[in-house]
Amino acid sequence: MNLNDCHNYNDFRKLAKKKLPSPIFHYIDGGSDDEVTLNRNTDSFNDCDLVPNVLADVSNIDMSTTVLGQKIDFPLFPSATAMHRLYHYEGERASAKAVEKMGTIFGTSTMGTVSIEEIAEVNQGPKLFQLYIHKDRGLTDNLIERCRKAGFHSMCLTVDTVVAGNRERDKRTGFTTPPKLTLGSLLSFALHPGWTINNLIHEKFKLANIVHMTQKGTSIDKSVIDYINEQFDPAMNWKDAEYCVKQWNGPFALKGVMSVEDAKKAIDIGCTAVIISNHGGRQLDGSRAPFDQLAEIVDAVGDKIEVILDGGVRRGSHVLKALCLGAKACSFGKGYLFALAAGGQKGVEVILEKMKSEICRDMKLMGCKNLSELNSTKLIYRK
Ligand SMILES: Cc1cc2nc3c(=O)[nH]c(=O)nc-3n(C[C@H](O)[C@H](O)[C@H](O)COP(=O)(O)O)c2cc1C
Repeated sequence: MNLNDCHNYNDFRKLAKKKLPSPIFHYIDGGSDDEVTLNRNTDSFNDCDLVPNVLADVSNIDMSTTVLGQKIDFPLFPSATAMHRLYHYEGERASAKAVEKMGTIFGTSTMGTVSIEEIAEVNQGPKLFQLYIHKDRGLTDNLIERCRKAGFHSMCLTVDTVVAGNRERDKRTGFTTPPKLTLGSLLSFALHPGWTINNLIHEKFKLANIVHMTQKGTSIDKSVIDYINEQFDPAMNWKDAEYCVKQWNGPFALKGVMSVEDAKKAIDIGCTAVIISNHGGRQLDGSRAPFDQLAEIVDAVGDKIEVILDGGVRRGSHVLKALCLGAKACSFGKGYLFALAAGGQKGVEVILEKMKSEICRDMKLMGCKNLSELNSTKLIYRK
C-alpha cells in the first residue's frame, strides 16, 4: 500500500498504521475512557442529510472564506496538534509547507517539535499559534511575543485540557515522548524499521517552542498525560484567557468551547472566534459532539463571533453540513496527521487536495456556487 492507494481518511489511517510503531499510531488514533465521544464526533454527521438543488449553473464555484482575519481557499484547515516529528521525521516542516501550498491556515501547537521561528521561515501563508497556559506564566508572555515577532497572524487558547484525559491506549502501549525502547515496545519498533531508522539518524526529538524555557520541555521522557498534569495550570480561568487576548491584541480564538454560556463569555473577553471542540474525543468522554452543539451555539452568538467546527470531520460532506448549520469553517486533526505519517509533506498535500475536491464536488452537487448558499434550509434531520 502507498499514497496512490489512499483515497480517504480510512486509507490514510491504514497506511499510517503500517508505518508507525504501535504506541505512536495509538497516540494519534485513541480517545479517552471508552472512546464514546471520539466515535460520536463523526457519527453525529450522519443524523442529518443534505438536500440539493439542481439546475443551478455550478460551472464556477467559490469556496474561499475569511477565518481569523485571513482569506483561505476553502473552508477547512488542519487543527493545531502536538509533536509532528513523532509521526514523520520532518514534522511540522512538512505539514507547514503542505498547508501553505494548499492555501489554508497552518496551526502549530505549544507542544510543537519545530520552532515558531522555523515555521515562519518555511510557511509564508496564514499561521495560527495554539497556546497552552503552563503553570510558569512567563512562558505564555514569551510565546505570545515570539509569535508576534515571527509574523503569526492569529492565536488560539486551548481551554479543554486543564488536566489530561484518561487515554487508556497510551497506558497499555507505554507511550512516552520521545518513545522509549522497552521490552514491550521493542518488537513494534523493530517491525517499523523505516520510522525507527529515520528517528535515529535525524535530529533529537525536542519540544522546540519551550526547550529554551524549561529543561522539562527538552525531552519529556514520560507520558504526555504526566506532562500535562504536571505543567498545565488547572487554575486557568476567564481572567487568564482575557489576559492572553489583550496581550496578543489580534485575531484570537478559544478552542474547546462547547456551551452557549462559554461562547457568550468568549465574546465578552474580546475573542474573534470560538472553536467548538472536545479535543477530538481525547479529553472528557461522554461529552457532546461539536456537530451536535453547533446549531445552538451559532443561533446564540453566530452574528457576533466566528464559529469554527473542530472534531470528527472525515469527508467534504461533513464540512458542508457544518457550514449549513452556520460554521464559518472546519478544522481536522487525525485526518492530516495520518497523512503526515503516511507520506510526509506529500501526504498532507494529498489529503488536503482530496478534501478540497470533495468540498468542491459536493457544492456542485448541492447546486451551491459559494459558501453563503449553504444554509439550514439545505439540511434536514432524520425523524
Ligand atoms: C495526536 C494529536 C495531538 C493533538 N495535540 C493537540 C495540541 O497540542 N493542542 C490542541 O489544542 N489540540 C491538540 N489536539 C486536538 C486537535 O487540535 C483537534 O481538536 C482534534 O484532533 C480534532 O478532532 P479530529 O482528530 O477528529 O479531527 C491533538 C489531536 C491529536 C489527534
